[in-house]
Amino acid sequence: MPAVSGVSFEIGDEEFVAIVGPSGCGKSTILNMIGGLVAPTAGAIEIDGRPVSGVPANVGYVFQKDTVFPWRSVRRNIALGLEYRGIRGEAQARRVAAAVSMAGLEGFEDAFPATLSGGMRQRVALVRTLVVEPEILLMDEPFGALDLHTKLDLHAELLRLWGERRQTVVFITHDLSEAITLADRIVVMTRRPGRIKMVYDVKLPRPRDVIRLRETDEYLRAYGEIWHVLGEEFAREKAR
Ligand SMILES: Nc1ncnc2c1ncn2[C@@H]1O[C@H](COP(=O)(O)OP(=O)(O)OP(=O)(O)O)[C@@H](O)[C@H]1O
Ligand SMILES: [Mg+2]
Repeated sequence: MPAVSGVSFEIGDEEFVAIVGPSGCGKSTILNMIGGLVAPTAGAIEIDGRPVSGVPANVGYVFQKDTVFPWRSVRRNIALGLEYRGIRGEAQARRVAAAVSMAGLEGFEDAFPATLSGGMRQRVALVRTLVVEPEILLMDEPFGALDLHTKLDLHAELLRLWGERRQTVVFITHDLSEAITLADRIVVMTRRPGRIKMVYDVKLPRPRDVIRLRETDEYLRAYGEIWHVLGEEFAREKAR
């Protein structure tokens, strides 16, 4: 089954791009191709002008599923990517401690995931990826299962971190408000096989106040315009 077809777009260095589209339109597939987990059957994915083959070294991935390891403590979950990269001892401990504090999880270092809330687990997954300082950050509905309040906290945190470190981010979401809050550009996809239906430039200035920005004219305009296009796809999906 063709998951995506005729999709072509470029993402600039340090740009924050969100992808939205109906379920099953191929968003995760695109991310998996960028991250070298799936090879395209046709066409090519390039990073810095070179075709992706295998998992690129400078890519961090926050998966759609909760992928925190239940048998590892918070500290050991966060240390995972550093272990892979051979960063141990004092250097590892320092970076893990910074990540724990970034995630607001001080005091939970030795806790196991089963004893954390969903939002706390998601923060572990997020900082576990950030702690290795990837240049490219692939995020597949990382906050999908969270309540609005926790989500807004994490949006603010992500924007702050991104403001400091400036990774290139590809962020998949079903939540249009989330996409507008975070992204420079929003790619809207059609239903399967996914094609690009619209690319929207978000003109909200930065730094962004994740709560107040929802009251601005640009937010409302962006929401209205994108919703119109996305709504057509949802309606077509229903009509099938
Ligand atoms: N491993 C696989 N084997 C076969 N088909 C797959 C596989 N993974 C995905 N697909 C198909 O590819 C299509 C796109 O899947 P994908 O996971 O990329 O969608 P998505 O846009 O991320 O959806 P969602 O919003 O529900 O996460 C789906 O319709 C699915 O049927
Ligand atoms: Mg998906």
